[in-house]
Amino acid sequence: MGTVLIVDDVKGNARLLELLLAPDGHAVRTASDGAEALHVVRAELPDLVLMDVMMPRVNGFEACRAIKQDPGTRLIPVVLVTALNDSASRIRGIEAGADDFVSKPFNAHELRARVRSLLRIKRYTDDLDSAESVIVSLALTIEARDRTTEGHCQRLAQYASALGRTLGLDEDDVSALERGGYLHDVGKVGIPDAVLLKRGALTPSEYDVIKLHPIIGDRLCGELRSLRNVRPIVRHHHERLDGSGYPDGLRDDAIPLLAQIMGIVDVFDALTTERPYKAVFPFTRAAEELRGEAARGWRRADLVAMFLEQVRPVSLLSLGKAKPATVLSTVARPPEHRRA
Ligand SMILES: [Fe+2]
Ligand SMILES: [Fe+2]
Repeated sequence: MGTVLIVDDVKGNARLLELLLAPDGHAVRTASDGAEALHVVRAELPDLVLMDVMMPRVNGFEACRAIKQDPGTRLIPVVLVTALNDSASRIRGIEAGADDFVSKPFNAHELRARVRSLLRIKRYTDDLDSAESVIVSLALTIEARDRTTEGHCQRLAQYASALGRTLGLDEDDVSALERGGYLHDVGKVGIPDAVLLKRGALTPSEYDVIKLHPIIGDRLCGELRSLRNVRPIVRHHHERLDGSGYPDGLRDDAIPLLAQIMGIVDVFDALTTERPYKAVFPFTRAAEELRGEAARGWRRADLVAMFLEQVRPVSLLSLGKAKPATVLSTVARPPEHRRA
């Protein structure tokens, strides 16, 4: 199922297509020529366009070419409706970037099958939105700006998706956790180096600047439909159950579960890796810190316990390989504001 835009200047034809597609439960929109179609496509981003070629004002070829030239709409499949055996139209259609053709008179079964299969491909390309990869590389660039956080995003992606699987979350959520690991701090792109990379304590106003990163990140992801499940993670990974977190001061269940998971693994990784303001904590010390945060009412104790159970064997192994000099059990608690 999806939203199909039917474009035909002959009302009866549009109605006929609508009736043919109705049994599959698609939402149908209609437009009466190419110009109107372009307007609807840009405003509503349908999942498929089924378009006649011979129309007044802007014809089907021109409209198809315009849809395919616009980066915001080019992934929407366009099916052109041509007369049977009109190979000249097909060639023009291919040149205009059409994804498929159907011929009049329609074969109902064939038409429905084509539409279903193109919508399936569209759902897949939605997930592989090319802009998403741009945002992921942006996030990795930010990580590289701060060499002390090297590998942080990848570890978070692994920790969070593994915990999601243990919790029995569905594949969409597990995939959101994996991508959220890479993207949670993408908003740091908007934080000046002088604040982000500052060694030593931050002033209250500098900390206020750091606190903007989830809001900036949320806005960056907001442009992409494929990131809609990841956005709550980006926005809320610094919230705490008692409402003392940021940016929205959400409490308890109001904090999305995926964001709670990311919050736990984010703190764990900050504790178990070296930062300018602290040495590596051994697993037992990091576990103690996290349990302490649960006891303080910041995090769900059951999630913390489940995560520690899962990560312990791996951590003991890899922390065992850390430079021994940096594994100190006597270092002070890291300041709260340095865990952005
Ligand atoms: Fe982080
Ligand atoms: Fe963060």
